[in-house]
Amino acid sequence: MTATTISARGETLSFPDGFVWGAATAAYQVEGATREGGRGVSIWDTFSRTPGRVAGGHTGDVACDHYHRHADDVRMMAELGLGAYRFSVAWPRVQPSGSGPVNAAGLDFYDRLVNELLAADITPYVTLYHWDLPQELEDRGGWTDRDTAHRFADYARAVHDRLGDRVGTWMTINEPWVAAFLGYGIGAHAPGRASAAEAFRASHHLLLAHGLGARVLRDAGAREIALTLNLAPVMTPGQVSDPDLVPSAADAEAVNRVDCLLNRQFLDPVLRGEYPEPVLAIVDRIAGLGHVLDGDLETINQPIDLLGINYYTPCVVRSEPGEPANAAYPGTEDVMFSGAHAPTTAMGWPIVPTGLSRLLVRLSRDFPEVGLIVTENGAAFDDVVTGDRVHDTDRTAFFDNHLRAAHEAIEAGVDLRGFLAWSLMDNFEWAEGYHKRFGIVHVDFETQRRLPKDSALWYREVIRRNGLRRERARRPTLEAVAARAGVSRSTVSRVINGESMVSDEFREIVMKAVAELGYVPNSAARSLVTRRTDTVALVVSDVSDGSHAGDSLFSATVRSTVRELEEAGKHVTLMLADTPRSRQRVEQYVTSGHVDGVVLVSAHGADTLPGALAGTSVPAVLLGRPAVATRTPYVDVDNAGGAAAAVRHLLDRGRSRIAAISGPPDVTAAQERLRGYRETLREAGHRLIVAVGDLTHASGAEAMRRLLRDDPGLDAVFAAGDLMALGALRVLHESGRRVPDDVAVVGFDDIEAACYAVPPLTTVRGLRAEQARAAVRLLLRHLDGGPVSSATLPTELVIRQST
Ligand code: FCB
Repeated sequence: MTATTISARGETLSFPDGFVWGAATAAYQVEGATREGGRGVSIWDTFSRTPGRVAGGHTGDVACDHYHRHADDVRMMAELGLGAYRFSVAWPRVQPSGSGPVNAAGLDFYDRLVNELLAADITPYVTLYHWDLPQELEDRGGWTDRDTAHRFADYARAVHDRLGDRVGTWMTINEPWVAAFLGYGIGAHAPGRASAAEAFRASHHLLLAHGLGARVLRDAGAREIALTLNLAPVMTPGQVSDPDLVPSAADAEAVNRVDCLLNRQFLDPVLRGEYPEPVLAIVDRIAGLGHVLDGDLETINQPIDLLGINYYTPCVVRSEPGEPANAAYPGTEDVMFSGAHAPTTAMGWPIVPTGLSRLLVRLSRDFPEVGLIVTENGAAFDDVVTGDRVHDTDRTAFFDNHLRAAHEAIEAGVDLRGFLAWSLMDNFEWAEGYHKRFGIVHVDFETQRRLPKDSALWYREVIRRNGLRRERARRPTLEAVAARAGVSRSTVSRVINGESMVSDEFREIVMKAVAELGYVPNSAARSLVTRRTDTVALVVSDVSDGSHAGDSLFSATVRSTVRELEEAGKHVTLMLADTPRSRQRVEQYVTSGHVDGVVLVSAHGADTLPGALAGTSVPAVLLGRPAVATRTPYVDVDNAGGAAAAVRHLLDRGRSRIAAISGPPDVTAAQERLRGYRETLREAGHRLIVAVGDLTHASGAEAMRRLLRDDPGLDAVFAAGDLMALGALRVLHESGRRVPDDVAVVGFDDIEAACYAVPPLTTVRGLRAEQARAAVRLLLRHLDGGPVSSATLPTELVIRQST
């Protein structure tokens, strides 16, 4: 660890001389002009143009129009006193198809940008890859394909050839964890794939790309080479406020496993040339290690000069036996990801500035040879433009507190070289579209007007004095306003929120106190009245034509969900959305602040409600996987896996002519069950025999009749629902077939009648109560601002006498 002495000059908490102060953006988030200058298509173009993927259907087509306004933007940076600007180069501008000839017009843009920055005395920090992979490369396998890493190295060389004489600092890849696990693991980001195995392969190839790129840059004479990682200290809930707390052995294991997946999966290969043991074991189990070739780790372990740290919030976990793995962190079975008890940003991310100092100190201890720089830190809040000002006190406080934490780390000896705020201006926040504003400069996306927020003016002052005021600016609180006005906190909050129930007299008194104290309401004050309804809407969406085919599938789940919500202290508003009008009513009701969140039961692929809710800011959880992926997390049971187990069981019993009675094609769960049947039977080399029912008893009987007519020799039936299986049993009896001697029957769902059937029915149990519990837990976590991701729960085969 390098010892840095910083003189605390009088009133200022000074940073080391030469400390780099700047701000960051990324190409797809700000440039726009996606079809200009010969630019090719990137995975984010494709992803954002796919309905349901990005909030509000937003795309980066225009974004901040930085491509055309860069000269003005550089002038604005100079006015704010920035010493550095971290931007990314869009690969598809440089190589439209990701390989082959270079598009000179694309490089011209960055050439102009670099020249303008240098003329304004702002140091360019170039990130080569900030997630906008050329679509053609994705079509050839994207990051799951090793070749992409080699294409990246070629691209890195092309950019360096053009800008290397003027750009000193090169960042290869931004946040490989996010690119791999949100892009390929859960599909919340482009390219929208959802496979744990692919995520691990993508992750390794992103690291390989870093290594190959770093080697190319070094050979070309680059002065400073860096990699930017999203890093977070991993801790138990108790350690958030008390870092010295010693966790239980089980909690310590959970913390270590998640730390390995989130942080060390990247740090160790890059800086030590090896993967941590727990990561190897998980990758081996989920993806195999065939993609990790001899020599890869040496390539990845290139010497680097700087480690870029993107820090927003800590990762809070504890041991919870039985908890399914978080899909974004494959391998985290028995770990609960929880939010921290701390105020949150508009992203719902807990604000924990000490997380930054802990992270910096730990990195400096574990990797003393590499210099550190904060390449991103910042926060989204719901900004309000008042005239030509944005009083974003929350954001200023966020930066102030995080910089104090950084300062503390420097005083403890950490070699921290700079701080780049995320972001220079409001921009396209990936899956959140333009709804989440991270800028220190406000952007009006209608007019493209830039307006420095109060936080930008404050940052200018920090940069000017190369430090923070020792005394924290005292900020008038809601309590102070209430005391001055002689009213309660909630009255102040009501006035601030413009509620009509407050008398004019009180309104005037409160507003006078607000003006006298210069009080700026923060989100907490705004939320006092508007946020807590303690009510959750349980919406049952049924687009079937009145046949109520889904009833047997869902009534048990609905009952358990109500019970779970009530046990969690929530009021439940049960709503049925079964016509276009009622669906619209539900949408209006939910978005007008009557409820804190929504649990949505939607069985039909054609349902538009999941997509509509995904576009709102109301936290929602789906019971059952939607047919079309949305950003809303879901909890499902493993329908395909359950069906596969049922069919395997029939095969084990020596059956070979196995028919399926499937559910309606638009019921998502039924389709998954059919898939499980189809895949297992195909694998076994047997013929598929399928009749379609509508999940009712009568339809099962009718389908069985058809099947017997078409294939009198069949020896087993798998029905995608117990009621259909019971209908099938009746017809088999009527036709003189013995069950199971002549024909074995398996159902799905384990409804009560299954065990009273003659003979009692073998079936697949979906753990409906667990599903409801998991969904409610997920929603509560969502409401607390904790990380959420979808889960699929295992099923269980219940063997009775029908097989
Ligand atoms: C980081 C990204 C950056 C921005 C911030 C909020 O993960 O690198 O582009 O979206 O989050």
